[in-house]
Amino acid sequence: MLVLGIETSCDETAAAIVADDRTILADVVLSQLDDHRPYGGIVPEIAARSHLDHVDRLIGQAMARAGLTFDQLDAVAATGGPGLIGGVMVGVMAGKAIALAAGKPFLAVNHLEGHALTARLTHDVAFPYLLLLASGGHCQLLAVLGVGHYRRLGTTIDDAAGEAFDKVAKMVGLGYPGGPQVQEWAAKGDGDRFHLPRPMKGKPGCDFSFSGIKNAVRLLVESLEKPLFDQDKADVCAGFQKAAAESIADRTRRAIELMQAQWPQTSHLVVAGGVAANKALRASLEQLAGRAGMTFLAPPLNLCTDNAAMIAWAGLERFRLGQSDRLDFAPRPRWPL
Ligand code: KG4
Ligand code: ZN
Repeated sequence: MLVLGIETSCDETAAAIVADDRTILADVVLSQLDDHRPYGGIVPEIAARSHLDHVDRLIGQAMARAGLTFDQLDAVAATGGPGLIGGVMVGVMAGKAIALAAGKPFLAVNHLEGHALTARLTHDVAFPYLLLLASGGHCQLLAVLGVGHYRRLGTTIDDAAGEAFDKVAKMVGLGYPGGPQVQEWAAKGDGDRFHLPRPMKGKPGCDFSFSGIKNAVRLLVESLEKPLFDQDKADVCAGFQKAAAESIADRTRRAIELMQAQWPQTSHLVVAGGVAANKALRASLEQLAGRAGMTFLAPPLNLCTDNAAMIAWAGLERFRLGQSDRLDFAPRPRWPL
């Protein structure tokens, strides 16, 4: 079984072909980062136009790399939301057009479901498992119980984790995206010099919050001499990273307890999203999982961040259960799992 996946919901235009034996036959991603960098964040209108300019070529590239024609596919999957609506529309229209022209079933995939099921593309993981999705747009803890069966244990009540990393980077004068640079500067800093709040730590439930810590960093930076000394920059980054990682780990620890109480056969803690690349965070999550007798699983980074292989795979998982979507599916800017 072969499925084409298309992803256009944020700032990556991507196309991939995945087989049911978990082979990725092609996986192409075009990042728009350079288009958005001058604005210090993603500009929806620029994103939509760029998807429109590139999606056909990328799909063609993926098909050529896999050595396939459209009539050899079994189904076509495209991200149907949630995301920036202009981009989602581009991918959905492209997917529907190919499905219609080639006479193949169409699947509109929830982007979050794509992230949630990636672990089953890369590893032999059985349901149920716990997923921490931490990216520039999302911060959630999900109980992944089966294809189409998800229980949201926690979500952010304000910003996403990656957004907080990006904003802190901006405050101390680092470029976009901020996560990797904050990590790099943090490595040279002292995480205990400035005390920053650990948002939600110890609170009931598994929700996240990052606005308080972001504000604390803003006040801290305002109080420091300008331009910032390199050591100050490094110490702010280290302090923020330590606080953010501790807060995420605390929420994840609670989610593990919840899952083990309700679904004792839960064996894996899986991470996804760009923030999952953070080494300090990974180390504490790995420790947490180990202590709970669970296996920590991080798919390769290119499949943790936005890509189309995860969309093709989620489409495939649904398709082999007999599901597909109608061609009048309307793109959804918001679509909770
Ligand atoms: O999943 P992703 O590539 O794209 C979406 O947001 O959908 O995540 C990007 C986010 C950005 O906010 C970026 O700053 C953050 O992930 N990020 C990191 C690291 N690498 C990327 N945050 C913390 N530490 C990192 N090493
Ligand atoms: Zn994503």
